[in-house]
Amino acid sequence: MNETQTLSQRADALEEQMSRELDYIVIKSRLYSMAEGDMGPPPNAAALMAKNPNARVLMGDDPRLPAMPEKPTLMDFFKYRFGPAAHLLQSAKHAVNAGLPENMVLACLLHDISTIGFIRGDHGYWGAQLVEPYVDEEVTWAIRAHQVLRFYPDESVGYEYPQSYVKTFGADYRPDAYVEEDYQRMRNHKWYMSGRMITVHDIYSFDPNAKVELEEFTDVIGRNFRQPEQGLGFDNSPVSHMWRAMIRPAKYL
Ligand SMILES: [Fe+2]
Ligand SMILES: [Fe+2]
Repeated sequence: MNETQTLSQRADALEEQMSRELDYIVIKSRLYSMAEGDMGPPPNAAALMAKNPNARVLMGDDPRLPAMPEKPTLMDFFKYRFGPAAHLLQSAKHAVNAGLPENMVLACLLHDISTIGFIRGDHGYWGAQLVEPYVDEEVTWAIRAHQVLRFYPDESVGYEYPQSYVKTFGADYRPDAYVEEDYQRMRNHKWYMSGRMITVHDIYSFDPNAKVELEEFTDVIGRNFRQPEQGLGFDNSPVSHMWRAMIRPAKYL
């Protein structure tokens, strides 16, 4: 930059440079705004574009996120989209060590994918739906159930109401009515114990030194998760759009 420029000339140049560099505009989905407690209207795309004539509203890949392969696999989502997965990896390892069948090891490996990749509230229901076309019905059922069953003890398998819940939600917390209703339905279901097993292996106090790699489960995934050849998000399944929402979470339309 020319040293003889005045301060305001420098500011103008900087602004111009910034507007050239900003070649895309992100408008957050309503859900993200509401999560910030923001009930205001979304930013006005036209006004933003008037200030940055070269900018376009984001309709493709988000340059701020890691690029994903054209035909993403479940492993790719673990690598490029999901947050830290140590909890899931350790739960799955715990299930392996306990001799659980492979489909239940997969259920433990996937039980919280909604929490680490999509939406927290009702994560069991969302997570089950995400994998529904690709896994045994029992796996889907168990993932959905684990979120509910976590709130209810079962002495027969030594499962107690989590101390972490007392701490996190308060001693007076009671599950919502729909959770209680689902519990009453689930406790009599033929797959009750499959859902229950996830809660048994849903371990939170880990050995911090126990490092589990996703690659340890390559074969379990290969045998129990029907990876679509077109890639997750592009296989025209009833949940493809949900996987695409993780690939491009800020896509405008
Ligand atoms: Fe969970
Ligand atoms: Fe969990």
